[in-house]
Amino acid sequence: MKKIVEYYEKNKKGKLLSCGSEHIVYNYDIDKVIKFSIIHFFYGKQRGYPWACEELNLTKKYFGKYVLDTKIVRSKDQKYHAQLQPKIVGHPLVPQDLDNKILYNQFREIINCYNNMCKNSCPELDLIGQSGVFTNCISNIFVVEQKKLVIIDSTLFNTKAPYPIRLLLLFLRKIVLPIQNRKIQEFLNLHNKK
Ligand SMILES: Nc1ncnc2c1ncn2[C@@H]1O[C@H](COP(=O)(O)OP(=O)(O)OP(=O)(O)O)[C@@H](O)[C@H]1O
Ligand SMILES: [Mg+2]
Repeated sequence: MKKIVEYYEKNKKGKLLSCGSEHIVYNYDIDKVIKFSIIHFFYGKQRGYPWACEELNLTKKYFGKYVLDTKIVRSKDQKYHAQLQPKIVGHPLVPQDLDNKILYNQFREIINCYNNMCKNSCPELDLIGQSGVFTNCISNIFVVEQKKLVIIDSTLFNTKAPYPIRLLLLFLRKIVLPIQNRKIQEFLNLHNKK
């Protein structure tokens, strides 16, 4: 089946919201955000788009309903691509959130999905994000209203990425993955101790 390509409109891009380690995030239209990946930029103009689609599909396959509704969209001239998402109100997951049983159970489910992903030798999802490396949060899991967790980012430690970005991802995976796994365990244990 042929994939339908969706395009974004440059004039709907609004104010800059965040310029993190991996994404440059802007308001888009009235109620959305558009996110440009710095990593995918290094894949090159042609290769970035299929990789972005593949990474999102893999994330959706493993994490299902927990992945924030995300579309990969292209610029009209097909030179750039981005992720389009609804604009959400919430905050990155911190240990105190897990005092709530509903959120804790959702977190456990997400980690089961993550463990399945690792077991099947897939590239691991970057759950921790840059802020999570430096502060006590897991920044790619957001807590939104109605006691719900959502994954806002489908960046993978994709060590099969084309060169030269593969070298950076290999390096990041080596450094960040152990920190991520340790933090996941700490977050899970917090509740177990109570
Ligand atoms: N869908 C969204 N709705 C509202 N704000 C968003 C959304 N996606 C991202 N943001 C804002 O942009 C910030 C960075 O998002 P994102 O995780 O995509 O970028 P990043 O560069 O990967 O950052 P990090 O390395 O910390 O994870 C979020 O913490 C949030 O404040
Ligand atoms: Mg992120």
